[in-house]
Parts: sequence; C-alpha cells; structure tokens
Amino acid sequence: NHPYEVNQEGHLEIGGMDTVDLAEKYGTPLYIYDVKAIRENCRAFVQTFEELDIRAQVAYASKAFSSIAMVQVAKQEGLSLDVVSEGELYTALQAGFPVEKIHLHGNNKSIEELSMAIQHDIGCIVVDNFLEIDMIGKLLEKYDKKMDVLMRVTPGIESKTHKYIMTGNEDSKFGFNLQNGQADEAFTKLFEHPYIQFKGLHCHIGSQIFETEGFLLAAEVLFKQIAVWNEKYDFVPEVLNLGGGFGIRYTGEDSPLPLNQYAEKLGAAVTDFASKLDIPVPEIWIEPGRAIVGNAGITLYSIGSTKSIPGVREYISVDGGMTDNLRPALYQAKYEAVIANKADKEPTGQSSIAGKCCESGDMLIKDLPLPEPETGDILAVFSTGAYGYSMANHYNRIPKAAVVFVEDGKDQLVVQRESYKDVVKNDLTYE
Ligand code: LLP
Repeated sequence: NHPYEVNQEGHLEIGGMDTVDLAEKYGTPLYIYDVKAIRENCRAFVQTFEELDIRAQVAYASKAFSSIAMVQVAKQEGLSLDVVSEGELYTALQAGFPVEKIHLHGNNKSIEELSMAIQHDIGCIVVDNFLEIDMIGKLLEKYDKKMDVLMRVTPGIESKTHKYIMTGNEDSKFGFNLQNGQADEAFTKLFEHPYIQFKGLHCHIGSQIFETEGFLLAAEVLFKQIAVWNEKYDFVPEVLNLGGGFGIRYTGEDSPLPLNQYAEKLGAAVTDFASKLDIPVPEIWIEPGRAIVGNAGITLYSIGSTKSIPGVREYISVDGGMTDNLRPALYQAKYEAVIANKADKEPTGQSSIAGKCCESGDMLIKDLPLPEPETGDILAVFSTGAYGYSMANHYNRIPKAAVVFVEDGKDQLVVQRESYKDVVKNDLTYE
C-alpha cells in the first residue's frame, strides 16, 4: 500500500540506501530520515508562497522532531522555527538557528523560558494567557527591550461542524477565547503596552487535518475579530499565523492534500479577507510539523519472538515499541510496514506487531499483511518521522534509539543511541 523502493537484493531502500545494511551498521531500533524528502516538504510550502508572491513565514514546528541536525536542515531550507519549551529553544540555539526566526509557544511558559527568549532576542513570542502578558511586560522593562508578540486566540469553531478541530474549539487550554471578552481584554493590554510590539493573531485548529475548510473558517473568524479592532482602534495586523496541522498519509485510509494546496488556498483566502476589509494583506505564518518530517522518516526494528494463537492472532515481537513510538498506544494511530529484507516478497499472511514493553497496549500494528516473518528479520515501519523520537520515553528503562540521516547516497548518525549509562546517569545511590 505504501510507496517504497526495493533494490536488487530485495531489500527496502530509503533515500537510495539499503535499510538492511543500515540496521546492521547502526543497530535497531533505528529511526532513519530521508533528508531529500524533508527538503521537498519544506519547499512545497515555501516555494508555493513565493510563486504566488504571498509574504509568508513557514515555521517548522520542532515538537514533531527536534534535534540539532534537524534544526540545521530547517535553517538550510530557510524556514522559521516554532519552539514550545526551553529545551526546544536550547536545541535551536545550539544548532545556530537564526534567532530572529524563532517563535516561542506554550500555554504555561515559565519565567525562565520567557527570560531566555527575551535575552536571546528571538523573533516572536506567541502569547497565550494573562499571566504571560504580565511576565513578558516585566521582563521587557527589566531588560529594556522590545519584543514582537502574537496573541493566540481560540477561534471557537464547534467540533460539531468541524470534526477535525480539537485545539481551536471553545473548551481549550490554549489561548484567549474570542467569545467571552478575554481576547478583547488581552488586546488592549498588548496593543497599549510600551515594550510589546503587537503584530497580530495566531490560532491552531488541530492536527492531521486533510482539508482546508477548517483553516479557512478559522481565518474568517479571525478576520471578523480584526474588523472589530480595526474599526475601534485602527488596528491593522502585520501577521496572521494559522498554525500547523496539515495532514499526512500513514495508511491507505488517509487522503491528504498535496502540501502546496494548503499554501495556495490559505494564501488566496487571507488575501481575499484582507481586501474585503480594505487592509494590507498580513504576512501569513504557518507552523507545519508532521507535514515536514512525518513521511520522511521510517523506523527499523529486529523481529524477535513470535507467538501463534491459531484462529485468533499471530504475534511477532520487535525490539522497540511504545518507547520509540507512543502514537499507537496513545492515539490508536495506524501504520504500515514491510519486512525490509523481504521487501520484494508478497504477503502470505497477517501478523500483529508487538512492542517489547510490559504492557498489553504496546502493540505497534494490528493484523499487518506480511511475507513469512522470521526471527532476525528487519521490520520497517513507514511514516514515523513525526512525534516518534520526539515522544520517545524511558519506560522499562529502555534506552532511546539512534537517529540516522540519509542523503545523496550517504548516511550520517545525527542522534546517538543511548547507553545504559545514559539511562541511569541522573540516579543517585541511597545507602
Ligand atoms: N502549531 C501549534 C500551535 C501546535 O500546537 C502544533 C501541534 C503544531 C503547530 C504542529 O502541528 P502538526 O503540523 O505537526 O500537526 N503528538 C500528536 C500531535 C500533537 C500536536 C500538538 N500541536 C501526534 O503524534 O499526533
């Protein structure tokens, strides 16, 4: 079902490299990214806006996969960067990412996070709540600095009408609600603040969205609010940030739009709304995470034990699971996979892929059609590039897997495999 390449030996390839060789060289579980695919995804957004002559910033939502090497690729592709914590900001700084293109998010930013952002002169803080406005104001006064700020609003689009929307609905922990006067109150605080350079609005309606309807509806709601503030205070937004959430294909059940269509439709809609209001078209910012890295990554595992329950299920266990990919356990997320060393063989039956954690819910894929699986085979799970490594954890004290980038026929280790020493490195003895 998944498009993939097979070499003469019948092995799965990624970025022109033999995955079985990579598994041998680096061990398993192993995350591998095809850097060319990452670059193509970046360009699908950036170039579309450029071709349409629409001023835009494409900020990579680094929560999807943050590492120094990944941030460097985002930098090379001219993207901006969305960070949501001091850890992601620190990674960006370590990678030498241009500070003026870093945007800080979060619904409970600490004073330390805000100080770090302000001291490093990052490009923008997306303000989420009243406590944060106070903290930013005080810090800017203390450091005698100015800062560009966007206000995150909750557009209040009811999930009844828009089933994909989970973070943009009224009952959300994120942002200022438009319906109950919160956003109005925040607006006056931000608009009148001597140190805050209030640039515009932000909203994020959810994730893994396959059509543009929800984004356009959100843009419409934001423009209605802008019209009110424009009338009352002469407010003209310089920036409109419509968040991320552009869906990708995990299995045949998913049918996302080509990435350039999101940029095209959003660009057209914002241009149209602005001209109706007779204001200049604001710069459009978007924050794709999954759409940049999701399909560019695969995970390799070694197949270990097998268990057959005749008439019920065939289990095959791999040497990773919910520690390197939490999504199936957390969201019942679905994936496709092949046996990398038998990628040219047709499936002969179905097996369910179990992780190695002590938890029944640690199942990666249910009833996956496969050629006869054997202990020692390499299983390759597709589309694990987003929220895999970034949500990896140490459950059962399993060390985190390594990450390898492949490009132009070369492979390069970009995150080392953790050792058991790493796992206990913060433990202290108690005698
Ligand atoms: N911008 C904001 C404000 C966000 O909250 C998010 C994701 C993004 C951008 C990027 O969304 P994306 O383009 O990657 O869909 N762990 C979940 C996804 C959580 C997304 C949280 N926010 C998963 O594995 O599906």
